[in-house]
Amino acid sequence: MPREAMPGAAGRQGARWYNPAMPFVTLEGLEGCGKSTQARRLAERLGPSAVVTKEPGGTAIGASVREILLSHASRGLVAPAESLLYFADRAQHVAEVIRPALAAGKLVVSDRYVESSLAYQGHGRGLDREVLRQVAHLATGGLRPDLIVLLELPIEEGLLRVGRRGGHDRMESEVREFHERVRAGYAEMAAGEPQLWARVSGEGTEDAVAERLWSVLESRGLLVGPVGSGSRDAGR
Ligand code: TYD
Repeated sequence: MPREAMPGAAGRQGARWYNPAMPFVTLEGLEGCGKSTQARRLAERLGPSAVVTKEPGGTAIGASVREILLSHASRGLVAPAESLLYFADRAQHVAEVIRPALAAGKLVVSDRYVESSLAYQGHGRGLDREVLRQVAHLATGGLRPDLIVLLELPIEEGLLRVGRRGGHDRMESEVREFHERVRAGYAEMAAGEPQLWARVSGEGTEDAVAERLWSVLESRGLLVGPVGSGSRDAGR
């Protein structure tokens, strides 16, 4: 993989260069926390030297897998099958999108990755997390993110946002206790590896969250180069 620094987006914050030593960022969080909106905004701001992608459904094959996973017709899906489908989507995503982008020297931002499986299928469904980590190794070849951003919002607020967008998919329709276990799972993982995780509040306006997220990418060393007018504060 080319390791030399490359020009990043030149925007309001002035020129930035991606740090080639930290090319892979993932976004995690609960339903309606604003990840997808923020991923879109990041894509705009980072420009063509970055690839912003998502799970499930980041590839054509993954889109079919996503349909099975989120459809109410899959009510009978048992937890191990659900889990393996998420990992099938991920294996394809890593092979088809993430690894090629990294090999081309791009910064990769993925909206969800392995930690979603650990939070939702591990903590949420109660599957053995050590086994899930082994399956993760099979699916990803051991590819780990350099930074995991956890976008945090109270459960009710997230589900309200999802409701306003219209309709709850199969996962969003889970009982409140499920979402609570997922939330606790994320909190536990983030607390266990604070150097790998950055917790960012998803409250407030889209603009405010976008600024917090950008500041975190800077303060964690993913964006380097001349310091512009952007804040370098941590994200909380
Ligand atoms: P999506 O519509 O992409 O929601 P979001 O914007 O919240 O990411 O749906 C993805 C759903 O799949 C979401 O409910 C989280 C769930 N999920 C898992 O349970 N395990 C996983 O490994 C992944 C990637 C997602």
